Amino acid sequence: MNTMTQILEDTVHISKFYLPEHDKLLIELEKLLSIEEKTKATNYKFEQHKKRFIITRGFLRKVLAFYLQCNSADIEILTTNKGKPFIDNSTIEFNVSHSGDYSVIAVTKNKPIGVDIEKAKDTFNENIAKRIFSKEENQYLMSLPEEKRANAFFTIWAKKEAYIKLHGKSIFNKSVEFSVISNKINNIIIKEISVHPKYKSAISISLPLRAIEYWGFDDGLYKKLSAGEM
Ligand SMILES: CC(C)(COP(=O)(O)OP(=O)(O)OC[C@H]1O[C@@H](n2cnc3c(N)ncnc32)[C@H](O)[C@@H]1OP(=O)(O)O)[C@@H](O)C(=O)NCCC(=O)NCCS
Repeated sequence: MNTMTQILEDTVHISKFYLPEHDKLLIELEKLLSIEEKTKATNYKFEQHKKRFIITRGFLRKVLAFYLQCNSADIEILTTNKGKPFIDNSTIEFNVSHSGDYSVIAVTKNKPIGVDIEKAKDTFNENIAKRIFSKEENQYLMSLPEEKRANAFFTIWAKKEAYIKLHGKSIFNKSVEFSVISNKINNIIIKEISVHPKYKSAISISLPLRAIEYWGFDDGLYKKLSAGEM
């Protein structure tokens, strides 16, 4: 597939989708999916998960088509043996996450990326933190005033997931062995991004990182919505 000039090196483009807003596009977006994707959609037990998959995957295809300069339905999205979607023989890299009513797509060029979004609740399970977070993360969590801990729990969770997803889940069993508290692990940065006040979201990518830009659809056209932030 063609490479493209729409995204610069060391830049991340983020697009976020409030899913209920796009319910009306369900049929149109489903038409863009491959046979495998349509089969995957029918296998979801809950209707809301099925809809979430179709809308997100449909928009992922529209987003990728912009960078690849081709038709959305023509893109061949493959998955690694650990389930991470990718496009073969392309400089475009991407990752997707969904939680509650939101989906996030992160796109970059020439290096892998991980993204995660988590709907934050007012409470969290301390035992899960003990089981999944590192010692440093647990110490940090418990050093906070009680009313701030749930928020921090979901932020750490999203950052850890983004880091795991960057690696395509190959370090999935090692979540206690790394800490995201300093937002950096060797040459990899883990950065919180803003999607919605009630959701925690993060990306993870190797340095250097020059800019994070928010992109989205405006009148059906995919375009930059806000200037780059760092
Ligand atoms: C993919 C995984 C790594 C994250 O899943 P999740 O947080 O439940 O869900 P998300 O919405 O963030 O991510 C799912 C999307 O990531 C992508 N994905 C799937 N497998 C992936 C992998 N191995 N690596 C990176 N991305 C992956 C897909 O695009 C998928 O969405 P799609 O099927 O609609 O295309 C999941 O398989 C998992 O194992 N989660 C474990 C949760 C956990 O206990 N985490 C510990 C916290 S530190």
